[in-house]
Amino acid sequence: MRQQSLEVLSHNDIQQRVHELGEKITADYANSDLVLIGVLNGAFIFTADLCRAIDLDLAIDFIRVASYGDGTESSGEIRLSKTPELDLVGKDILLVEDIVDTGTTLAWLVKHFKTQDARSVKVCALVDKTERRTTEIPIDYAGFRINKGFLIGYGLDHAEIYRNLQGIYTLA
Ligand code: IMP
Ligand code: MG
Repeated sequence: MRQQSLEVLSHNDIQQRVHELGEKITADYANSDLVLIGVLNGAFIFTADLCRAIDLDLAIDFIRVASYGDGTESSGEIRLSKTPELDLVGKDILLVEDIVDTGTTLAWLVKHFKTQDARSVKVCALVDKTERRTTEIPIDYAGFRINKGFLIGYGLDHAEIYRNLQGIYTLA
């Protein structure tokens, strides 16, 4: 990493929490028809680890939305650039998101999936970043609550770099 950074969550912290979330989801969805929908690009690593921590038959698909440019501020504008291809009618959708900041993206996504005739729509986010929340949105499964800061690593990028870091860091 070329820029200075501080570790916020180690790889071990993340793995331990992902396993706890996986156990809870396994229990809660025991009699369901679960489809994980990972929100690209940021949630690709979290989705890959979380799905392996869930001991159920489940399906996986992805959606891609863009709301950020290369900066660290949300543009507030959501653009859908990849839609899931699975049939979601009657399914129990669990949206898997990397981080919730203002809440704009997640609120848009939940509204979008509520029009798809799924049986249920819930949300699992690795990081609930609270300081800049402008749209209140329930997060059914939250990994870590972090007040503020721009985070990188474990799927999170800054201008598309740093997604491959094992832990989560703050740009200093
Ligand atoms: P929101 O719509 O403001 O909640 O923004 C959500 C999206 O912005 C997330 O899905 C991330 O992709 C991105 N984002 C928000 N905060 C951060 C951060 O600290 N680091 C990297 N990406 C972030
Ligand atoms: Mg994201």
